[in-house]
Amino acid sequence: MSQIAHLECTKCGAHINAQQPQTVCPDDGGVLYVRYNLEDLKNHFNPASLVSRPATLWRYVEVLPDAPPVSLGEGFTPMLPTREFANVFIKEEGLNPTGSFKARGMSVAVTMAKSYGLKKLAAPSAGNAASALAAYAAAAGMEAHIFMPRDVPLANRVECESYGARVTLVDGLISDCARMVAERKEKEGWFDVSTLKEPFRLEGKKTMGYEVAEQLGWQLPQGIIYPTGGGVGLIGMWKAFEEMEALGWIGPERPKMVAVQSSGCAPIVKAWDEGGRASEFWPEAATLAAGLRVPKAYGDYLILDILKRSGGIAVAATDAEIMAAFHDWARVEGIFAAPEGAASLAAYRKLRARGFFSSEDRVVLFNTGSGLKYLDVIENEKKRGTPAARQIGGIIGPY
Ligand SMILES: Cc1ncc(COP(=O)(O)O)c(C=O)c1O
Ligand SMILES: [Zn+2]
Repeated sequence: MSQIAHLECTKCGAHINAQQPQTVCPDDGGVLYVRYNLEDLKNHFNPASLVSRPATLWRYVEVLPDAPPVSLGEGFTPMLPTREFANVFIKEEGLNPTGSFKARGMSVAVTMAKSYGLKKLAAPSAGNAASALAAYAAAAGMEAHIFMPRDVPLANRVECESYGARVTLVDGLISDCARMVAERKEKEGWFDVSTLKEPFRLEGKKTMGYEVAEQLGWQLPQGIIYPTGGGVGLIGMWKAFEEMEALGWIGPERPKMVAVQSSGCAPIVKAWDEGGRASEFWPEAATLAAGLRVPKAYGDYLILDILKRSGGIAVAATDAEIMAAFHDWARVEGIFAAPEGAASLAAYRKLRARGFFSSEDRVVLFNTGSGLKYLDVIENEKKRGTPAARQIGGIIGPY
């Protein structure tokens, strides 16, 4: 079983007790990492332990919280070789419950919230995290209070309402939603499960790192391309690699971690290009990849540090490039991706053209969600005849 030793601040290194609900470091607001007794685990937890375990993220139970899981079958998504490129794989996260990788984080965060005896959860969301929170809160018999931009993809709003969440649509961005949650949470008795403001969504997302390793035969790839808003998956996977090394499952090798953002909201790319250790708030963020419309990531210092330590990079793709990639994945691979996920292919094309990756390099592209959640976004683009829409194509009769 899992052995949480303590929580550790990623800024000052303080150790914090995991016996009661925690948010961020009380001294400096640093993101908290869950630490396990990996030295003890090493003796009885190894890749062979995983054989015949369920095909969900809970197969890695020793490095997850020890509480009865609130599970809808999340994780262990397919690792698909692409038809277009040798050595390139798509990690197909669109098959998760609620159609996105956000299910992973919310399964683990809601599991812990339930075991702490919390009853009311709240979160600001660009859309998919809201759907996941609403679903897992319903499964746990808890209240979900959700703040989303008014122009969120339709599926996210309809899902949240259907799961019985209390939904507030906000005229603004996720940053405005976050402020509203922060203002009201104390009075309302809500526990805030905002990105990186509690430690367990990260634990759910880190399982993507374990899966990449397991599905590629415990050989890490040379590159991982990850559509980055708050960056939780990227940070989580890096944490997973460190844990796996401590467990003796892999060596010190690491993939080059690539953060892809939309050029309409690219604070991490800007900070990376300028050599900054943190990002600046991106004004007037606008992109059809709703999940990438995060003007300032709370864990920006962690993302930038990981890009650097891994020899990775941050790149931006325009909405038109993202939709061209969306079109290609649909036509060539049979994958109907979320625009955020399609951004991974746009980034890969750029990085191959620049020689950052060679044809020999094994690279994993994350499709973080299903395109089925964006039907209105895609149709609206077509109606507006934007440059992005012209990339989508489609054959319209008469034939
Ligand atoms: C489909 C999709 N991809 C990527 C992201 C960005 O995820 P993260 O905040 O973990 O960087 C989101 C966030 O909403 C999303 O919904
Ligand atoms: Zn601290």
